Amino acid sequence: MEHSSIPGYTYGQVSRSPVTLDELDLLKQTVLFSSDDVAALAQAGQVLAPQTDAILDVWYGFVGAHPHLLRYFSLHGQPDGDYLARVRARFGQWILDLCTKPYDQDWLDYQHEIGLRHTSIKKNATDGAAAEPLIHLRYLTAFIVPLTATIKPFLQNGGHAEAQVEAMHAAWFKAVTLTATLWSYPYVKEGQF
Ligand code: HEM
Repeated sequence: MEHSSIPGYTYGQVSRSPVTLDELDLLKQTVLFSSDDVAALAQAGQVLAPQTDAILDVWYGFVGAHPHLLRYFSLHGQPDGDYLARVRARFGQWILDLCTKPYDQDWLDYQHEIGLRHTSIKKNATDGAAAEPLIHLRYLTAFIVPLTATIKPFLQNGGHAEAQVEAMHAAWFKAVTLTATLWSYPYVKEGQF
């Protein structure tokens, strides 16, 4: 997937995260994220890259099957197809970024941007949408579970030994938890993150 052609994908062109790299390092330690996880994620990236469309079909199917989630892509109960499609392209890129990008300042900054895009500060703005004005934080956290549970069969498709699949899956879980945690920053009161 080519970055620059994805509408609204502004990796490397966003303002600085209020979270420091030192704080990120402590968060990584807290979710037991190690250099082994970096390697396992790189391998997961190779396995998942050719499957992103199928993965997104599963995730969008999950959202579409739950009106309380679909409402965030909707206006007056009517899903916005353009908005769904534009976000889908960036979601696909996120899968690859999560697995293959270095977790450096650019990565940290884009995590903050994605967090903002889930809150009333920036939701809808990137795509000129008129859907619900924010995604409630409780679902951001809860979504870690389906995103982690549903990725396992795709990791198994790579033909790797079961132990390696487990390593990739564990690394994915840590990475998704790390990012969802960073995304919670703009939701919480100043000084309490
Ligand atoms: C945007 C992932 C939770 C709805 C995005 C993007 C990604 C993403 C990668 C696009 C970022 C970009 O603009 O580059 C995730 C992950 C979640 C999560 C990893 C939880 C761990 C949720 C939940 C909902 C949701 C629970 C509710 C249905 C949306 C919407 C957008 C979006 C509506 C577009 C926001 C905008 O207007 O810019 N999400 N998401 N997300 N997500 Fe999530």
